[in-house]
Amino acid sequence: MSETKDTLSITDNRTGKTYEVDVTDETIKAMDLRQIKVNEDDFGMMTYDPAFTNTAACRSSITYIDGEAGILQHRGYTIEELCEHSTYLEVAYLLIFGELPTEPQLERWTYDITHHTFVHEDIKTMLEGFRYDSHPMGMLLSTVGAMSTYYPDANQIDNPFERYMAAIRLIAKMPTLAAFSYRHSLGLPYIYPDNDLSYAGNFLGMMRKMTELKYEPDPRLERALDVLFILHADHEQNCSTSAVRAVGSSQVDPYSSVAAGVAALYGPLHGGANEAVLRMLRRIEKVENIPDFLKGVKNRDEKLMGFGHRVYKNYDPRARIIKKHVDEVLDVVGLDNPLVKIASELEKQALDDEFFTERKLYPNVDFYSGLIYEALGIPNEMFTVIFAIPRTSGWIAQWMEMNGDSEQKIARPRQIYTGKRDLTYVPIADREGEEKIVGPPATRPIKSRRGA
Ligand code: ACO
Repeated sequence: MSETKDTLSITDNRTGKTYEVDVTDETIKAMDLRQIKVNEDDFGMMTYDPAFTNTAACRSSITYIDGEAGILQHRGYTIEELCEHSTYLEVAYLLIFGELPTEPQLERWTYDITHHTFVHEDIKTMLEGFRYDSHPMGMLLSTVGAMSTYYPDANQIDNPFERYMAAIRLIAKMPTLAAFSYRHSLGLPYIYPDNDLSYAGNFLGMMRKMTELKYEPDPRLERALDVLFILHADHEQNCSTSAVRAVGSSQVDPYSSVAAGVAALYGPLHGGANEAVLRMLRRIEKVENIPDFLKGVKNRDEKLMGFGHRVYKNYDPRARIIKKHVDEVLDVVGLDNPLVKIASELEKQALDDEFFTERKLYPNVDFYSGLIYEALGIPNEMFTVIFAIPRTSGWIAQWMEMNGDSEQKIARPRQIYTGKRDLTYVPIADREGEEKIVGPPATRPIKSRRGA
């Protein structure tokens, strides 16, 4: 029997040369391909991987996902166990420090976070500058980015104390910024944090408190929200986490890096999906319209939002956990929501349909999280904002890991250039070309728009 080696032999049929590259963790180093050349002065071979569908950009010990088997684990613990036994703040500690906290560690962590929930009063002035109907995610994005101006020492990214403070402040203030953005969009007074409440309870209070002297959250709603927070805490190298890592690799401060994550999460294919699920359910309007809607999806007129996942080609384990809480929350709020009926029938019909099963399209976490928020009376625009609150701990954990990783450098992908080269410059009077600009020209002369 021939001896096996952890290497890969590559034969370049253009030259007939064979190269041997190391295989580690079922992976080859893309840079090992650079030696493959036809001529000595060639740049060397690259890999082409738009959207990084088969490229590992880092080594990470934070989150393990087996998409085929529907497994999600943080630092080795299954998401099911964490949701059953832990609080969100405990999971945030686990993500950031790598181990579950002891009792005194959790007490200190909770104390520190609880005592940094207030934001600078100037943030309120900043929010006043937004139009009354601004999307709260746009406001969150701006205020998180602005935090770097309040805590300039955070740019000492190698200073462990500054890193800790940034972690604490981001986790602590994110719910406050989110709730303030929400209250602003409704024209309601901002509610200051209540340090007597839990992390999730305090957020519910800042969102919902009206004239009562003390807001007391229903423990079932508080727990459902805390479980949602755990489910959304981290999900390895997704779009927003990759954005945090890519921006952070420039060694900018963590607030600016996390703002990049918020921006990425804003998109409808990522964090905006649960908002899109609700819009879709409203458009379907009634159970009888589901077959027509699914026909449209299969004709590629639209997507079935809340279905499919880049990584899970099986039931999203988070969807299974959250599904259990939907009925509980509906019981508490006493709501017989027609959208829930449409959602469960839609899920049933899609899972009975070959189009979806053949493509391994199953409900993802967003299919149900939107329904819980809906039942809590939270408007659609807030859904992604609520996603950003717990994902902050994941972003920070990933940012810290990246900063401590000696193999990382500033992110700088390559490209395959497809444009023209070496053209002769044409003077403006001699140029011809089709109209490229779309839409009507600006109606007012530039002078009169000054100051607008
Ligand atoms: N509805 C209808 N068809 C779909 C859907 C969907 N939701 N998702 C994928 N497909 C189809 C694709 O058209 C493709 O079909 P084809 O092979 O015949 O061309 C096939 O299924 C494979 O899909 P891909 O596009 O290769 O899947 P990809 O991994 O690129 O996309 C994504 C994953 C973006 C999540 C996609 O499934 C989608 O857009 N889903 C709806 C949006 C959504 O729910 N996003 C939330 C993701 S979870 C999160 O961010 C927390």
